Amino acid sequence: MFDDHTDVPSSSPSRFRAAAVAFTLAAVILQGALAQAQHRPTHDIVKSSRGMVVSVSGPASDAGAAVLKQGGNAVDAAIATAFALAATYPAAGNIGGGGFMVVWPGDGRPPMAFDFREKAPAAATQEMFVNPAGRSAHRRVGVPGTVSGLALAHEKLGTKPWKELVDPAVKLAANGFELDQANASQISELLKDSTGPEHAELHRVFDKPGGGDWKTGDRLQQPDLARSLERVRDRGVDGFYKGETAELIAAEMKRFDGIITTEDLANYQAKQREPVRGTYRGYDLVCMSPPCSGGITLISILNILENFEFARDERWSPRTMHLFAEAMKRAYRDRARYLGDPDFTEIPTHFYSKEHAREWAKGIDLSRATPSSTLAGDIKLAGESEHTTHFSVVDGKGMCVALTYTLESSFGSRVVAKGAGFILNDEMNDFNWMPGVTDSTGRIGTAPNLLAPGKRMLSSMCPTIVLKDGKPWLVTGSPGGRTIINTVLQVITGMIDFGLTAQEAVDAPRIHHQWFPDKIRAEAKFHQQHADVVKILEGMGHTFDRVARQGDAHSIWLNPETGDAESGIDPRISGKASIP
Ligand code: DON
Repeated sequence: MFDDHTDVPSSSPSRFRAAAVAFTLAAVILQGALAQAQHRPTHDIVKSSRGMVVSVSGPASDAGAAVLKQGGNAVDAAIATAFALAATYPAAGNIGGGGFMVVWPGDGRPPMAFDFREKAPAAATQEMFVNPAGRSAHRRVGVPGTVSGLALAHEKLGTKPWKELVDPAVKLAANGFELDQANASQISELLKDSTGPEHAELHRVFDKPGGGDWKTGDRLQQPDLARSLERVRDRGVDGFYKGETAELIAAEMKRFDGIITTEDLANYQAKQREPVRGTYRGYDLVCMSPPCSGGITLISILNILENFEFARDERWSPRTMHLFAEAMKRAYRDRARYLGDPDFTEIPTHFYSKEHAREWAKGIDLSRATPSSTLAGDIKLAGESEHTTHFSVVDGKGMCVALTYTLESSFGSRVVAKGAGFILNDEMNDFNWMPGVTDSTGRIGTAPNLLAPGKRMLSSMCPTIVLKDGKPWLVTGSPGGRTIINTVLQVITGMIDFGLTAQEAVDAPRIHHQWFPDKIRAEAKFHQQHADVVKILEGMGHTFDRVARQGDAHSIWLNPETGDAESGIDPRISGKASIP
């Protein structure tokens, strides 16, 4: 084990300083423990031996749980939930975007991963976004992957007829559903912010009949979306990638300056990939592999943290927060250096090994923040918004699904293909736009994630299944752009290192460091509850930013003693655990 204790200098003023620091640290730890003891979980824990779906949307969780009740497995339920989210959570639920699914089949087969990340259209070029004039909403759209990915997972693991899994979403879109507070305010804000001619169709689809802001309890009906979903229900992938829907998307692109063609759509193919595996303090991690950076970066951070011991009551100590931030910035540096679409770039394995992590850990100064610029190595240095959504599903037979998918920004490009009724992503944002330009603002210009036709852009999504003694123990993931990995990290470490329940770990305030900008971004709740810790960390050279919230990590814990699924519902937007 790497020795993580600083030597206490022997001169007496230093000893005095060390004693003062120790006293402050003890006071802070005590305060943290008290804050934690006072903290009440935001949701009652839902328990079930027959399976569970936890998502941001009540009707979508219910759609998945209904499939479980009818004897479907976790993949069937995940497909129904994903389609239902496309109708009931338009900020991120989608058929016009893409994502990743990690499955633990639970029948002795190895875990599987499905990559339905969007791709750059054939006419894309490496430098197409260098000039700000070229960054229009329509050009930011990647070729959508969601329908292909859900169909591939169904082909490999589904048991229920495809039509039965899509139909609940058709009904939700056609008949409408009641908006909750989060949906009502998100959609109202979206409409106010989207004023250009490229958003005229968005207004036609989402404006409240009769005008005004949407209110909680209002009913949103989406007849065009219902027809697009009917085509998917009745014709499978061809109902999206060929025929009317494909033509509507291509026509929308032509009407503006978009470059996606019907050929791009017909050529899209989701991929089954090997999940990436890691370990942390005896637990096994089953994570999404590239073009997702989430799994490898999560494993890298955990590998670094494994070189240090944490006491149970040390969750909010300056030492813990310092080590988290230092581990995060090192792993995010490696993310920028090595990760991209594996079909286009060779991805080495050494940088997420335990040995490499030991080297990174040795370089951590326990009393000072390491400036991010000193970690760049051979990366030459030059001078993200809410929405994606994650849900977790388990069935009663041991199958588990972690699924995160996205439109990239909140409501993606805010472009609706005329007549198709659904929002298209703006996932092209996730490529490195400026070759060679990596800077302190967070821009990355490294080679592995440069734009190329047909390439998948690097993602930070991190759908993850954690195993204990070879059995599923936690299903988790989150939205939040580059913060996703650190949100998942803090749910996992909250439970493994600090003994929190899933609900407590999901509730707890979160921090984020992504190498550049060289700052710890912390939730307002963290600043409120741990102001003294912030002060000490600032004294060690860290700087802070404040955000209202980070992530939305709907998770399920599988209690090894009872075998029951127990919910971890993220309170930050909305959410529901539904059981069959
Ligand atoms: O794939 C990614 O990493 C991003 N496009 C995800 C965006 C996101 O999570 C925004 N949400 N909150």
